[in-house]
Amino acid sequence: MPSTSNATAHVKCANNSSPNRCFAPPAESRAGRRGTAGLPARSAGKDEPETPSVGVRIVEHDAMAQGLQVPFEHELVIVRPGPRSGYRFIIAIHSSRAAQPPGRAAGGCRLARYVDPLDGLYDALRLSQGMSRKAAIAGTRTGGAKCVIAAPADESLWPLTGERRKDVLRDLAELVDELDGRYLTGPDVGTTAADMQWVYRLTPYAAGFAGGGTTDGTAVGVHACISTAAEHVFGRRDLAGLRVTIVGLGGVGERLARHLVHAGAELTVTDIDLERQALATEIGAQWIDADGAQRHDCDILAPCALGATLTAEEVRGMTCRLVVGAANNQLASDDVADVLTEQGITWVPDFVANAGGLLYAVSIARDHLSEPDSLAVVRRLGDTAGEVLRRAERERTSTLQSAIRIADQRLDLAD
Ligand code: PHE
Repeated sequence: MPSTSNATAHVKCANNSSPNRCFAPPAESRAGRRGTAGLPARSAGKDEPETPSVGVRIVEHDAMAQGLQVPFEHELVIVRPGPRSGYRFIIAIHSSRAAQPPGRAAGGCRLARYVDPLDGLYDALRLSQGMSRKAAIAGTRTGGAKCVIAAPADESLWPLTGERRKDVLRDLAELVDELDGRYLTGPDVGTTAADMQWVYRLTPYAAGFAGGGTTDGTAVGVHACISTAAEHVFGRRDLAGLRVTIVGLGGVGERLARHLVHAGAELTVTDIDLERQALATEIGAQWIDADGAQRHDCDILAPCALGATLTAEEVRGMTCRLVVGAANNQLASDDVADVLTEQGITWVPDFVANAGGLLYAVSIARDHLSEPDSLAVVRRLGDTAGEVLRRAERERTSTLQSAIRIADQRLDLAD
């Protein structure tokens, strides 16, 4: 499913969105952009077509000047204000090709404050494409989708709690339920397993809360990919003595850190939330400043914060030989994959490395596997990572292209 982008735009995360962790490059100038993020959605009522005919209108933005790629090949994109919260809800269904049950696309729900709601839309467009690739390569038989709930930048009641949070989740549940199974939501940056459990009381189309949520599944998947990739790059699966830098100590970053300390890695960690330094002390990891952390001298870099932190310039300044992490959409644009190859840095594509959360959630919710069996399924991601790396070498291409080819092949087989 190579991106045939007919729209490009700058993507960044809400960089004032604490407690969400963000290591994105600074926002580029948005001057000269005018426009509106979308048209209000019509809900699919009884006499209306099953698929809400809702489009997205982007009026004049400086996308081309920004030069970053945003895919725009989606099956369905909905943008509408939540009736209770007033926040903008964006659901992007990228592809439901090969989904089982048919037509169902899965993807987490991101809740963040955005300076410009269009950035929320771009996040949804890009992240949902990542979910399609992730589902195909992980073999979950779900399509790819994402929900972004864009709160205004000046929202002072942050982080959301109590009734205000419930109102947001009610808005989410209502919209998801109207889609009648086309979209399966789950936890993502800014939302929790507990949130999804609450949403599940209002709509059956929520997952990722059973079995302790998706955090462990994601961390176990990243760890499996690190081991396989270490064998490929350093000739050994044993991580003892290898220097690993984890950027971002959210739920997944923390689990991964604990796994890696246990495996004997020499760990350096950082987070924009300085309170996380306590965790570093607890597990005996070295703490460094978040600024420049990706360029810290190490063997393996694990980006576990928000996406788009790997720019061409950043990669040229990195000393590690391997990049494997939990963050979604790590590359600022797809061509950074070639820069990584040029620099001799092996990158396990994010949508392979972090597919464990989705795989774990689907294994439990849809396939009714036990928690240990689901984790065993997740560990097989290591084999997939190995296949991606070997194919890239064989075909003299980037690991991104290699992973996309494998994902496409799996989709074709499933068609
Ligand atoms: N948020 C998870 C991810 O980015 C996906 C997920 C979707 C998890 C649905 C559970 C349920 O991979």
